[in-house]
Amino acid sequence: MTPPPPAGNRGDTVTELLGQIADTGRDAARGGYSRPVLSGSERDLLAWFVEQAQRRGLDVDVDRNGIAWAWWNPSGADLRGSVVTGSHLDSVPGGGAFDGPLGVASALVAVDHLRARGITPSRALGVAVFPEEEGSRFGVACLGSRLLTGELAPKRALALTDPDGTTLAEAWGRAGMDPAHLGRDDEALARIGTFVELHVEQGRGLIDLDAPVAVASSVLGHGRWRLSFTGEGNHAGATLMADRRDPVVAAAAAVLAARQSALAHADARATVGRIVPVPGGTNVIASRVDAWLDVRHPDDAVTAAVVAEISERAAEAARAEGCELVVTQESFSATAHFDGVLRDRLTRVLSGAPVLATGAGHDAAVLAGHVPSAMLFVRNPTGVSHSPAEAVEDDDAEQGAAALATALEHLLT
Ligand code: GLV
Ligand code: MN
Ligand code: MN
Repeated sequence: MTPPPPAGNRGDTVTELLGQIADTGRDAARGGYSRPVLSGSERDLLAWFVEQAQRRGLDVDVDRNGIAWAWWNPSGADLRGSVVTGSHLDSVPGGGAFDGPLGVASALVAVDHLRARGITPSRALGVAVFPEEEGSRFGVACLGSRLLTGELAPKRALALTDPDGTTLAEAWGRAGMDPAHLGRDDEALARIGTFVELHVEQGRGLIDLDAPVAVASSVLGHGRWRLSFTGEGNHAGATLMADRRDPVVAAAAAVLAARQSALAHADARATVGRIVPVPGGTNVIASRVDAWLDVRHPDDAVTAAVVAEISERAAEAARAEGCELVVTQESFSATAHFDGVLRDRLTRVLSGAPVLATGAGHDAAVLAGHVPSAMLFVRNPTGVSHSPAEAVEDDDAEQGAAALATALEHLLT
């Protein structure tokens, strides 16, 4: 359970709000936070969000894809075509404090700013929290926004499994939601007239520009592939080196191929961040290894070429080791460009804030294919993300929420 906030911390600022959840989902082994979707810690964060939204008098509902919505609708307007902001509360394993929660906390504080500025919008403002943005439990990032928009078929989503073999359908049911209702939701999508997501910057752009807030231009195309190598499990001492069919050796070649192939294509990024040997014992030659490859490039054809190169080199290494390789694409998102008119309008109202591209994926990028969408980035003094070293200065966090309020005010009035 998220502990009660310290006396005096009502959650009136972004720093106070994040302070209230600072102990939720801490990962003592990895450092930072592990808040997988539908885990106890992520559900506690959702309860915290609902409580803070209700404290502000917002009406909260959770839709059939597990997206939580909190509505400020002082004029009782039809929710279709509303202005919506928000982000996510799940994290990567051992992630930072800001990736996701900064956007949620800033959205709540932005509502306070709008009220304090005396704004009574004729349209509704929604604050949305999307589940499984990181894909760190079920493997497909931006799961909530992909289901909402129909980019992920419910049948495929329901069959996804977590590292313990629990299907998404089972996890959904255990969380008290009906998995039969997952899927494209035209009614919920129609409520989003414009979407703006605030996010911690996951790079050094704003440090170099000496500015606290930027407007996003684009999100790099990216995808995930699973490389499954099968060999022969055996004894580490009793098996001669010449007699082995060790899938770990083939997987190691794939890791090196990823580095080399990415270096050979300007602007490409290739990462193997997760390798699981089965059964996974120090004195056991593995029978199987799954390695997950993440490849990104602005040109989707180059991404495909890099993946093909790595797969070919991995297959060669597998053959040389007497192993089999199966490559499966688990997800892909083409490079997304945010709406240029919206981007320019936000840049103008934010007094010429800089415009930055990002290499990180976001629900806003999925939504950008369906509704006008934009993002704001808040300076990260370490430039590091998906790590406990991710950081945001208190003053920048409050400036970010004020900038978000200004952007929303412009869109609402
Ligand atoms: C999510 O943060 C991603 O870029 O993978
Ligand atoms: Mn992330
Ligand atoms: Mn994020």
